[in-house]
Amino acid sequence: MTQDELKALVGQAALQYVVPGEIVGVGTGSTVNKFIDALASMKDSIKGAVSSSNASTERLRALGITVFDSNDVEELAVYIDGADEIDSRGYMIKGGGAALTREKIVAAQSRRFVCIADESKLVGVLGRFPLPVEVIPMAARRIIRQFSAMGGKAQLRQKDGAPLVTDNGQLILDVTGLTISEPLRFENEVNQWPGVVTVGVFATHKASVCLLGTAQGVKTLDFP
Ligand code: 5RP
Repeated sequence: MTQDELKALVGQAALQYVVPGEIVGVGTGSTVNKFIDALASMKDSIKGAVSSSNASTERLRALGITVFDSNDVEELAVYIDGADEIDSRGYMIKGGGAALTREKIVAAQSRRFVCIADESKLVGVLGRFPLPVEVIPMAARRIIRQFSAMGGKAQLRQKDGAPLVTDNGQLILDVTGLTISEPLRFENEVNQWPGVVTVGVFATHKASVCLLGTAQGVKTLDFP
């Protein structure tokens, strides 16, 4: 099976976690796009969605799914999103699609985080994928130096020859050279740095379950 087919497989499998009559939290990325397409088949049995990016909002609306402002919804039963890396404890690196801040917000308002990913995303230790960090522009240089002091190399993400600007009007640093063996400690530490909006380690808001697309089918990993 191709990677695209594995993404479609887990996108479809995630439908079993959607609670009829409720609002579902929806992430961002190519795997989530497969989920959104599959969700269209259930659109009359859900109230709608809270979305983690402008891109997902557009896709949901194009399929006739109502998108609610997260401020208007107190709690979600479930949030469904992809990951750039996930380890055997459910800790993740996210933000490859630059949507990490809104993803963490929707994850925080959800009782369960269902991660959908193809098997290439499962790692022993987080850090192979460049770690995305959303930052306030005036702090970018200082934060680059702070990562350098911990052995990482941070680079400003570019798009079409200019710094990428997020849905929140901020910048993204991608950090290589890190081995994140203690994700909770790492997330808490980087969160303290002035100018960091969101670090792409999802440890406090880790996955509750992962639907992993493999050549043998969908494998369910539970993270109690
Ligand atoms: C976007 C994300 C995505 O979940 C992550 O990048 C995985 O994307 P894809 O499903 O396209 O591989 O965190 O900010």
